[in-house]
Amino acid sequence: MLITVEGIDGSGKSTVCEALEEVYPEAVLTREPTTSWYGQAVRRSIATPDADPLAELFLYTADHADHLHRLIRPSLEAGKLVISDRYSDSRYAYQGTTLEGVLPEPMSFVRSVHEPWTREPDLTIYLDVPPAVGAARSEGANKFEHKSHLRAVRDRYETLLAAEPDRFVRVDATRSSSSVITSVERRLEEWLGT
Ligand code: ADP
Ligand code: TYD
Repeated sequence: MLITVEGIDGSGKSTVCEALEEVYPEAVLTREPTTSWYGQAVRRSIATPDADPLAELFLYTADHADHLHRLIRPSLEAGKLVISDRYSDSRYAYQGTTLEGVLPEPMSFVRSVHEPWTREPDLTIYLDVPPAVGAARSEGANKFEHKSHLRAVRDRYETLLAAEPDRFVRVDATRSSSSVITSVERRLEEWLGT
Protein backbone atom coordinates (compact mmCIF):
# COMPACT_ATOMS: atom_id res chain seq x y z
CA MET A 1 0.00 0.00 0.00
CA LEU A 2 1.20 3.47 -0.87
CA ILE A 3 -0.17 6.34 1.19
CA THR A 4 0.78 9.93 0.45
CA VAL A 5 0.33 13.07 2.52
CA GLU A 6 -0.31 16.27 0.61
CA GLY A 7 -1.19 19.90 1.25
CA ILE A 8 0.18 23.39 0.83
CA ASP A 9 3.32 24.51 2.68
CA GLY A 10 2.68 24.79 6.40
CA SER A 11 -0.38 22.50 6.33
CA GLY A 12 1.32 20.19 8.86
CA LYS A 13 2.46 17.29 6.67
CA SER A 14 5.81 16.78 8.42
CA THR A 15 4.13 16.95 11.84
CA VAL A 16 1.59 14.28 10.82
CA CYS A 17 4.23 12.06 9.20
CA GLU A 18 6.38 12.15 12.35
CA ALA A 19 3.38 10.95 14.36
CA LEU A 20 2.63 8.19 11.82
CA GLU A 21 6.19 6.96 12.11
CA GLU A 22 5.44 6.07 15.74
CA VAL A 23 2.10 4.43 15.00
CA TYR A 24 3.40 2.41 12.04
CA PRO A 25 7.02 1.57 12.97
CA GLU A 26 7.12 -1.14 10.30
CA ALA A 27 6.21 1.34 7.54
CA VAL A 28 8.68 3.03 5.20
CA LEU A 29 8.36 6.76 5.85
CA THR A 30 9.74 8.86 3.03
CA ARG A 31 9.38 12.26 1.38
CA GLU A 32 9.74 14.30 -1.79
CA PRO A 33 11.98 16.13 -2.47
CA THR A 34 14.13 13.18 -1.36
CA THR A 35 17.53 13.29 0.32
CA SER A 36 19.30 11.84 -2.77
CA TRP A 37 21.53 14.00 -4.98
CA TYR A 38 18.50 14.46 -7.23
CA GLY A 39 16.64 15.85 -4.24
CA GLN A 40 19.61 18.09 -3.43
CA ALA A 41 19.47 19.44 -6.99
CA VAL A 42 15.78 20.19 -6.42
CA ARG A 43 16.60 22.07 -3.22
CA ARG A 44 19.20 24.16 -5.07
CA SER A 45 16.54 25.07 -7.57
CA ILE A 46 14.05 25.98 -4.80
CA ALA A 47 16.71 28.32 -3.37
CA THR A 48 17.22 29.96 -6.79
CA PRO A 49 14.68 32.77 -7.21
CA ASP A 50 14.87 32.92 -11.04
CA ALA A 51 15.09 29.16 -11.71
CA ASP A 52 13.41 28.16 -14.96
CA PRO A 53 10.06 26.54 -14.03
CA LEU A 54 10.26 23.93 -16.78
CA ALA A 55 13.80 22.92 -15.75
CA GLU A 56 12.50 22.75 -12.18
CA LEU A 57 9.63 20.43 -13.20
CA PHE A 58 12.11 18.00 -14.71
CA LEU A 59 14.39 18.12 -11.65
CA TYR A 60 11.46 17.24 -9.38
CA THR A 61 10.38 14.56 -11.85
CA ALA A 62 13.88 13.05 -12.02
CA ASP A 63 13.88 12.92 -8.22
CA HIS A 64 10.50 11.13 -8.34
CA ALA A 65 11.74 8.59 -10.92
CA ASP A 66 14.76 7.78 -8.76
CA HIS A 67 12.57 7.63 -5.63
CA LEU A 68 10.29 5.07 -7.32
CA HIS A 69 13.18 3.01 -8.61
CA ARG A 70 15.32 3.07 -5.47
CA LEU A 71 12.77 2.96 -2.65
CA ILE A 72 9.05 2.97 -3.46
CA ARG A 73 8.75 0.04 -5.88
CA PRO A 74 11.16 -2.28 -4.00
CA SER A 75 9.40 -1.51 -0.69
CA LEU A 76 5.94 -2.17 -2.16
CA GLU A 77 7.20 -5.37 -3.77
CA ALA A 78 8.48 -6.46 -0.34
CA GLY A 79 4.92 -5.99 0.95
CA LYS A 80 5.70 -2.92 3.06
CA LEU A 81 3.43 -0.01 3.84
CA VAL A 82 4.95 3.12 2.30
CA ILE A 83 4.00 6.61 3.49
CA SER A 84 5.34 9.60 1.54
CA ASP A 85 5.30 13.22 2.71
CA ARG A 86 4.51 14.80 -0.71
CA TYR A 87 4.44 12.84 -3.96
CA SER A 88 3.23 13.33 -7.57
CA ASP A 89 0.23 15.47 -6.60
CA SER A 90 2.71 18.11 -5.36
CA ARG A 91 4.01 18.38 -8.91
CA TYR A 92 0.50 18.53 -10.38
CA ALA A 93 -0.47 21.31 -7.96
CA TYR A 94 2.79 23.31 -7.69
CA GLN A 95 4.28 22.95 -11.17
CA GLY A 96 0.73 23.20 -12.52
CA THR A 97 0.93 26.69 -10.97
CA THR A 98 4.53 27.71 -11.79
CA LEU A 99 4.08 26.67 -15.45
CA GLU A 100 0.95 28.79 -15.88
CA GLY A 101 1.63 31.08 -18.86
CA VAL A 102 4.67 29.03 -19.88
CA LEU A 103 2.70 26.33 -21.69
CA PRO A 104 -0.98 25.58 -22.30
CA GLU A 105 -2.85 23.52 -19.67
CA PRO A 106 0.15 23.01 -17.38
CA MET A 107 -1.51 20.62 -14.92
CA SER A 108 -2.56 18.24 -17.73
CA PHE A 109 0.94 18.48 -19.14
CA VAL A 110 2.58 17.61 -15.80
CA ARG A 111 0.16 14.69 -15.35
CA SER A 112 0.89 13.40 -18.84
CA VAL A 113 4.64 13.48 -18.12
CA HIS A 114 4.06 11.19 -15.11
CA GLU A 115 1.25 8.92 -16.20
CA PRO A 116 3.09 6.30 -18.27
CA TRP A 117 5.48 5.34 -15.49
CA THR A 118 4.52 6.61 -12.04
CA ARG A 119 2.80 4.52 -9.35
CA GLU A 120 -0.47 6.13 -8.25
CA PRO A 121 -0.98 6.31 -4.48
CA ASP A 122 -3.65 4.01 -3.06
CA LEU A 123 -4.73 6.72 -0.65
CA THR A 124 -3.84 10.40 -0.26
CA ILE A 125 -4.36 12.32 2.96
CA TYR A 126 -4.99 15.95 2.04
CA LEU A 127 -4.30 18.38 4.88
CA ASP A 128 -6.54 21.32 4.18
CA VAL A 129 -5.65 24.81 5.43
CA PRO A 130 -6.39 28.25 3.97
CA PRO A 131 -3.37 29.87 2.26
CA ALA A 132 -3.03 32.48 5.02
CA VAL A 133 -2.64 29.73 7.65
CA GLY A 134 -0.08 27.82 5.55
CA ALA A 135 1.90 30.99 4.83
CA ALA A 136 1.87 32.05 8.50
CA ARG A 137 2.97 28.60 9.72
CA SER A 138 5.77 28.31 7.18
CA GLU A 139 6.75 32.00 7.57
CA GLY A 140 7.39 32.49 3.85
CA ALA A 141 10.54 30.40 4.11
CA ASN A 142 10.97 29.84 0.36
CA LYS A 143 9.85 31.34 -2.93
CA PHE A 144 6.78 29.06 -3.06
CA GLU A 145 5.40 30.00 0.33
CA HIS A 146 3.76 33.38 -0.35
CA LYS A 147 0.05 33.53 0.26
CA SER A 148 -0.98 34.33 -3.33
CA HIS A 149 1.08 31.46 -4.66
CA LEU A 150 -0.33 29.07 -2.04
CA ARG A 151 -3.86 30.15 -3.01
CA ALA A 152 -3.20 29.12 -6.63
CA VAL A 153 -1.62 25.83 -5.51
CA ARG A 154 -4.57 25.10 -3.23
CA ASP A 155 -7.01 25.70 -6.13
CA ARG A 156 -5.16 23.05 -8.11
CA TYR A 157 -5.28 20.59 -5.20
CA GLU A 158 -9.06 21.18 -5.17
CA THR A 159 -9.20 20.25 -8.87
CA LEU A 160 -7.30 17.04 -8.09
CA LEU A 161 -9.64 16.16 -5.18
CA ALA A 162 -12.70 16.79 -7.35
CA ALA A 163 -11.31 14.53 -10.10
CA GLU A 164 -10.48 11.61 -7.77
CA PRO A 165 -12.73 11.85 -4.71
CA ASP A 166 -12.20 8.18 -3.81
CA ARG A 167 -8.42 8.44 -3.57
CA PHE A 168 -8.32 11.56 -1.38
CA VAL A 169 -9.22 11.92 2.29
CA ARG A 170 -9.62 15.58 3.21
CA VAL A 171 -8.65 16.47 6.77
CA ASP A 172 -9.35 19.89 8.30
CA ALA A 173 -5.82 20.84 9.33
CA THR A 174 -6.67 24.20 10.88
CA ARG A 175 -7.31 22.44 14.22
CA SER A 176 -4.65 21.70 16.84
CA SER A 177 -1.92 19.32 15.73
CA SER A 178 -3.11 16.67 18.20
CA SER A 179 -6.65 16.64 16.77
CA VAL A 180 -5.33 16.61 13.19
CA ILE A 181 -3.08 13.67 14.06
CA THR A 182 -5.97 11.82 15.74
CA SER A 183 -8.20 12.32 12.67
CA VAL A 184 -5.51 11.07 10.32
CA GLU A 185 -4.78 8.04 12.51
CA ARG A 186 -8.49 7.15 12.69
CA ARG A 187 -8.94 7.41 8.93
CA LEU A 188 -5.90 5.21 8.36
CA GLU A 189 -7.10 2.64 10.91
CA GLU A 190 -10.44 2.44 9.10
CA TRP A 191 -8.81 2.25 5.73
CA LEU A 192 -6.10 -0.28 6.61
CA GLY A 193 -8.45 -2.28 8.82
CA THR A 194 -5.93 -2.22 11.69
P1 ADP B 1 4.54 21.14 6.33
O1 ADP B 1 5.40 19.91 6.40
O2 ADP B 1 3.20 20.86 5.73
O3 ADP B 1 5.19 22.33 5.68
P2 ADP B 1 4.97 21.31 9.20
O4 ADP B 1 4.49 20.03 9.79
O5 ADP B 1 6.45 21.48 8.98
O6 ADP B 1 4.20 21.59 7.82
O7 ADP B 1 4.40 22.50 10.07
C1 ADP B 1 4.76 23.86 9.81
C2 ADP B 1 4.77 24.63 11.15
O8 ADP B 1 3.46 24.66 11.70
C3 ADP B 1 5.66 23.98 12.20
O9 ADP B 1 6.23 25.01 12.98
C4 ADP B 1 4.68 23.14 13.02
O10 ADP B 1 5.12 22.99 14.35
C5 ADP B 1 3.42 23.98 12.95
N1 ADP B 1 2.18 23.17 12.95
C6 ADP B 1 1.99 21.95 12.36
N2 ADP B 1 0.73 21.51 12.54
C7 ADP B 1 0.09 22.49 13.23
C8 ADP B 1 -1.26 22.64 13.72
N3 ADP B 1 -2.22 21.74 13.50
N4 ADP B 1 -1.55 23.78 14.39
C9 ADP B 1 -0.61 24.75 14.60
N5 ADP B 1 0.67 24.67 14.17
C10 ADP B 1 1.03 23.56 13.50
P1 TYD C 1 8.92 20.60 1.31
O1 TYD C 1 10.30 20.45 1.82
O2 TYD C 1 7.97 19.48 1.44
O3 TYD C 1 8.28 21.90 1.95
P2 TYD C 1 7.31 22.04 3.20
O4 TYD C 1 7.82 21.09 4.27
O5 TYD C 1 7.45 23.50 3.55
O6 TYD C 1 5.92 21.71 2.75
O7 TYD C 1 8.97 21.02 -0.21
C1 TYD C 1 9.78 22.08 -0.60
C2 TYD C 1 9.05 22.96 -1.60
O8 TYD C 1 8.99 22.31 -2.86
C3 TYD C 1 7.63 23.28 -1.20
O9 TYD C 1 7.43 24.69 -1.33
C4 TYD C 1 6.77 22.58 -2.23
C5 TYD C 1 7.69 22.44 -3.40
N1 TYD C 1 7.44 21.27 -4.27
C6 TYD C 1 7.07 21.47 -5.59
O10 TYD C 1 6.92 22.62 -6.05
N2 TYD C 1 6.88 20.40 -6.39
C7 TYD C 1 7.05 19.12 -5.96
O11 TYD C 1 6.87 18.16 -6.73
C8 TYD C 1 7.45 18.92 -4.57
C9 TYD C 1 7.67 17.52 -4.06
C10 TYD C 1 7.63 20.02 -3.77
